[in-house]
Amino acid sequence: MGENPLPADGGRRLVGTRRLLVAGALGVLGTATALAASVPAGAAAGTLGAAAAQSGRYYGAAIAAGHMNDSTYVATWDREFNAVTPENEMKWDATEPSRGSFRFTSADQIVSHAQSKGMKIRGHTLVWHNQLPSWVGGLSASDLRSAMTNHINNVMGHYKGKIYAWDVVNEAFADGGAVGTLRSSVFTQKLGNGFIEEAFRAARAADPNAKLCYNDYNIDDANANKTRGVYNMIKDFKARGVPIDCVGLQSHLSSGSVPSNYQQNIAQFAALGVDVQITELDIGGSGSAQADAYRRVTQACTAVPRCTGITVWGITDKYSWRSGDTPLLFDGNFNKKQAYTAVLDALNAATPNTSPSPTTSPNTSPSPTTSPNTSPSPNTSPSPTPPVGGACSATIETTNSWPGGFQSTVTVRAGSSAVNGWTVKWTWPSGQSISSLWNGTQSGSGSSVTVSNASYNGSIAAGSSTTFGFTANGSAATPTATCTSP
Ligand code: XIL
Repeated sequence: MGENPLPADGGRRLVGTRRLLVAGALGVLGTATALAASVPAGAAAGTLGAAAAQSGRYYGAAIAAGHMNDSTYVATWDREFNAVTPENEMKWDATEPSRGSFRFTSADQIVSHAQSKGMKIRGHTLVWHNQLPSWVGGLSASDLRSAMTNHINNVMGHYKGKIYAWDVVNEAFADGGAVGTLRSSVFTQKLGNGFIEEAFRAARAADPNAKLCYNDYNIDDANANKTRGVYNMIKDFKARGVPIDCVGLQSHLSSGSVPSNYQQNIAQFAALGVDVQITELDIGGSGSAQADAYRRVTQACTAVPRCTGITVWGITDKYSWRSGDTPLLFDGNFNKKQAYTAVLDALNAATPNTSPSPTTSPNTSPSPTTSPNTSPSPNTSPSPTPPVGGACSATIETTNSWPGGFQSTVTVRAGSSAVNGWTVKWTWPSGQSISSLWNGTQSGSGSSVTVSNASYNGSIAAGSSTTFGFTANGSAATPTATCTSP
């Protein structure tokens, strides 16, 4: 399946010629994109970046500075990708660990390497409730407002002119609740829902040439409540002149979970007048099922002119934050997986993008099978998951692991009625212990663990969910958890 030859349709020769024009125009931007210029008309490019560049797109990877001493890692990055997102190095806890003192060493390492290769750089991320240093939580409203603006000014200022797109606000929408519900965080609690708009206005002033994105997960299904909320916000920003240029679909998926309307979803955001970027793609699974899922996601992007690029959340399964799910394009030994070939073929089959616009208009661009739903009807969409019986339930998932430790996410779901306060319990099978916990409060110790809600995430609407997470010592385990609500 991943070995499919390129489609031999008549349109491809025309496509190839135009591809060369586009690639040539882009080539001056840097060596990585210039690679594409050497691809002869009608021929397939041999790397992800060069293949994406043929249709005017980029193909990026999240990179961790801590792995840059691994020469195979850097060689694979340089060979295959023409864009990068620092995986953790630009986050608030990394760049401003204490108030007013900024630290850019690790992020600079990634940025200067990327610049030397002519890669596009995505900035990730300015305002996010996670990986936020604890000092931010203790500020008064007016202090928080000035600290947020100051953070945006300093981080964007440091990289001014170097960043293609910034994830200005990350993951602000709640997973459950009515359309438009924001996640409760220090930002909503102290600044109100307007913090998103404030952040975008500050960001435009700090670097007017960077594209400004709103980035989130679970906004891949065109009709999900969370998607509708983000859609409505962007529509509102556009109507009121609040600066926003793009939406980032993180797309942390599994082989069976690529929504059937994924392309329609990209198209409906694009129809609002913003670019769409797939920003943190990883798809758990293996073999042909994983390859098929990657192919569908790639084709969905290349079918929509304003879908400007794809970033995978890491290069090798070995270093993935979800390494247990083997979600990336290269295995633990940097071998290309079946999914890699599926992506490369799909990128090579893409028709040229309309931006930069070709001299003549292509007749070969596919039209989406369903037209985008630009007038959402938020109240008619079904609940994304069936309600469970009982007050609440909890599931533990391992999201990362390493020798001697692991990271997990626990999803707490309300049953058929709303929950006000919850307690999750489990027993470790072989001596594991939590080293750091977020979005919850731990009590007790030893092999029996009890975690209750934090002050801000105790209320869960019927059928909805919230999550907490932790890192732990020991070998990765996913014991059965019970959930109770008072
Ligand atoms: C993840 C990183 O990959 C991990 O190394 C880190 O421990 C936690 O954060 N959404 C985001 C990313 O926007 O920043 C997260 O990255 C994954 C989920």
